[in-house]
Amino acid sequence: MPAHRPVNLALIGAGRIGSFHAESVARRLVDADLVAVADPAPGAAGRLAASLDAPKAYTSVSELLANPEVDGVIIATPARFHTSVVVEAARAGKAVFCEKPMALTLEEADEAIAATKSAGVPLQVGFNRRWDQAFYEGRAAIDAGKVGSVQLLRSLTRDPGPYRGNPEKTPLWTIFYETLIHDFDTLLWLNPTAKPVEVTAIADALVRPDFAGNGFHDTAVVTIRFDNGSIAVAEANFCAMYGYDIRGEVFGSGGMVMMGDVRRSSMTLYDKNGVSNDTWRRDTDHFVNGYTAQLASFVDAIRTGTVTGPTGEDARNALAIALACITSVTERRAIPLSSL
Ligand SMILES: NC(=O)c1ccc[n+]([C@@H]2O[C@H](COP(=O)([O-])OP(=O)(O)OC[C@H]3O[C@@H](n4cnc5c(N)ncnc54)[C@H](O)[C@@H]3O)[C@@H](O)[C@H]2O)c1
Repeated sequence: MPAHRPVNLALIGAGRIGSFHAESVARRLVDADLVAVADPAPGAAGRLAASLDAPKAYTSVSELLANPEVDGVIIATPARFHTSVVVEAARAGKAVFCEKPMALTLEEADEAIAATKSAGVPLQVGFNRRWDQAFYEGRAAIDAGKVGSVQLLRSLTRDPGPYRGNPEKTPLWTIFYETLIHDFDTLLWLNPTAKPVEVTAIADALVRPDFAGNGFHDTAVVTIRFDNGSIAVAEANFCAMYGYDIRGEVFGSGGMVMMGDVRRSSMTLYDKNGVSNDTWRRDTDHFVNGYTAQLASFVDAIRTGTVTGPTGEDARNALAIALACITSVTERRAIPLSSL
């Protein structure tokens, strides 16, 4: 990769988060250019490419991957396509950034990891919370020994309400595969010397109780036991009426770190109604800096050949917990991770 030119990135999957990532590359990264977009939906790639001055648009992923100008791809297709696109991109010699979840089975995860290793290309996964300032500093405090030995951890995702999803079109187990997978990565990353050994999960449809029993879940609580004795709790809900609420907490023998704040800023309004704050309403507002930093890290990985962000193995570890949750909910029991 020559140092004298920006890294050439291409987007695969021009939907909601893909469009935002493409905009990050084109407008917010100083060391990368957006050179192509692919999406099978008629017009989607062309519209996005035109709006960001990207020179090429494709309806075929294979045609994009045959473009020799592309150094790396950002994969933001629906989850069920991630592994096959990772493998195809690796075989084409492209560096890979893949949105979460990288895979839906451990076999797929192994396939994605093996394909990128044998092609010798970097593989980074979209666990953007690691770059959020509060979470980043929390991990630094843990590494510096400031909370002592870790005993309790907590991570939560409450998506902003009102809930506008369609339970009938939501793939089964989305709450674990796509929502809580962020929390599983966060908890593993905040407890770096420990291995998870047992998972217990409860899930229900509390936001849309009319879909309870149809396999739809919008609320879940998970406990994870680690081999150092520490215990973590992750929870998610699809409808927090007060905003997009992402928080973490690590408590240990020496103290505690708390991370995340639903308030947009420290600006607090005092008026006739009392005291109030505005709150985050969208992931792309809350995490704009983290999303940009993770792509800057991917650009560095392309330049240096070394991934410092979340790897394919990290994606596999988070997925193993998601899969254990699914078994735990189905069989109503604790699942030892060694059984997977
Ligand atoms: N890290 C985060 O915070 C975050 C946030 C949102 C979404 N995501 C993840 O990103 C992925 C995409 O989510 P989204 O909300 O943008 O979805 P979306 O449905 O808005 O967009 C998906 C796009 O992919 C296109 N597509 C479908 N099949 C394709 C294929 N085989 N090849 C190329 N493109 C294809 C669709 O036409 C669509 O434009 C999901 O895995 C989701 O979990 C991550």
